[in-house]
Amino acid sequence: MWTPGKHVFVLLLTLVSTLRCRADTISEFAEDHDDDHNHEILRVLPDTYNWTHRPRIKGRWLDVTCAAHLLSFGAVSEQTMDFEVSLQVAQEWRDHRLANLTQNTWLPVDSGVQVWKPHVDFANTKSLDIATAEEETTMWVSREGVVNLIVRYDIKASCQMSLHAFPMDQQTCHIRLDGFDDTRLVWGLPSLMTMNTVPVISDATAFHSQFKLAGITAKSYVTSFLPSVPGKGCTFSEQTCDYADSDACQTNTKLCADDAGSEECDNCLYYTGICGNVTKPCDLLGKGDKSTYTSLEIQFHLSRRFAYHLMQMYVPSTFIVIMSWLSFWIEIGAVPARVCLGVLTVLTMTTQSSRSHAMQEVSYVRAIDIWIVACQLFVFTALVEYAVTYRWWLTENKGRRIIIDMEDKPTENGASPEHQPIEISGKCDSCNFVPTAAQNIDRVCRMVFPSLFVIFNITYWTVYLSA
Ligand SMILES: *[C@@H]1O[C@H](CO)[C@@H](O)[C@H](O)[C@H]1NC(C)=O
Ligand SMILES: *[C@@H]1O[C@H](CO)[C@@H](O)[C@H](O)[C@H]1NC(C)=O
Ligand SMILES: *[C@@H]1O[C@H](CO)[C@@H](O)[C@H](O)[C@H]1NC(C)=O
Repeated sequence: MWTPGKHVFVLLLTLVSTLRCRADTISEFAEDHDDDHNHEILRVLPDTYNWTHRPRIKGRWLDVTCAAHLLSFGAVSEQTMDFEVSLQVAQEWRDHRLANLTQNTWLPVDSGVQVWKPHVDFANTKSLDIATAEEETTMWVSREGVVNLIVRYDIKASCQMSLHAFPMDQQTCHIRLDGFDDTRLVWGLPSLMTMNTVPVISDATAFHSQFKLAGITAKSYVTSFLPSVPGKGCTFSEQTCDYADSDACQTNTKLCADDAGSEECDNCLYYTGICGNVTKPCDLLGKGDKSTYTSLEIQFHLSRRFAYHLMQMYVPSTFIVIMSWLSFWIEIGAVPARVCLGVLTVLTMTTQSSRSHAMQEVSYVRAIDIWIVACQLFVFTALVEYAVTYRWWLTENKGRRIIIDMEDKPTENGASPEHQPIEISGKCDSCNFVPTAAQNIDRVCRMVFPSLFVIFNITYWTVYLSA
């Protein structure tokens, strides 16, 4: 049934989402609006109304129900320890002084009219922009005196990250909205946020981050400027939503471009995830010192997308380590080949390690640092192994040369002593199948190095992937 009130209501909803409205949709509504006799806008308030006064209520707390629509999420930076979100926050409260101003269900309020608004503030922001255009209607009043306010914020908020497990790490970032003047901020469903089924929903097509947003928690609790006052920390609602399947919305980025308005697209634009029950560990009423105030918090549970680091760091350095083992199969006498291979792998590994440092400088050891150091150790030891083997090989051949020299003494040739060992060792390889001790070192290393690397890998991945 199209009651006039409902009609205006739909019009308002459309205005709220003007950003997504196509021009033809707007003009369609504009035509309808000419026929609508009930369309009004609130420009003048009753003389008795004083906007600096808070609505009078029994008891301490004035309830303000809030909901949020996360419009974008991204730019998580370890360098500056912050992230960016843009979200639309709806607040609903009751102001009896504004009742009976209209016969309509909802009356838009002109942006020039000053109405009492709850004093709210984002706590951990580095920068905050109110992105709502000035001429845009953001406030509505119902016949019952219920006020709805919708504001869009672009926020850059700080997020302390612990990078010990980098790049297998998981982080939790949050934004916090504090309510002052004894307003009780509660997550709920304001009347105008009709697309919400849970207090915090997201546009899952607009997550741009090296992290996967694995879930969010919406929490309301009591806090205070002072330490250990009664009631501080009392959480009066908490709900966690699992965003595990949100990736489907991003992989198909053209989903909404091709098929705007489809159910599939809307499920992504107004993505809720799989939400748990609301828990209420503590009852707010009656709790709390005078210094307490309420806060709303959205926690973003992030898990790093690992594939990039796997391809950029782990796979290349594994290949470098394997390459360094090739040396054990090359003849000991082939000095240039073995030295080149050794030096090349050590240098390549060093380059690889400097790339890992470019990511983030921290005062502690990260998982990636342990990996890099281990790989450097492997390639470096392979080079050292050659130095030792070569030395040994030289001594062995020197001994052999003396024996052979004695045998060869009667024959007189003018060859210089330097040339003799090479010639003789060549002869000996063809006649003698028993490997020398130096060659045995190489043979053992062919087994020991890969085994140690496998053991290291098992330990490393078990520790970090299970943590
Ligand atoms: C509103 O109240 C404040 C203080 O209570 C007062 O100073 C101010 O003049 C009032 N404004 C109007 C328009 O009555
Ligand atoms: C609004 O009007 C209704 C009846 O028309 C009346 O019962 C109610 O008390 C009024 N409310 C206020 C706040 O004036
Ligand atoms: C959530 O609440 C419903 C009913 O209120 C209950 O059946 C269900 O077991 C609850 N789920 C959890 C995870 O607590």
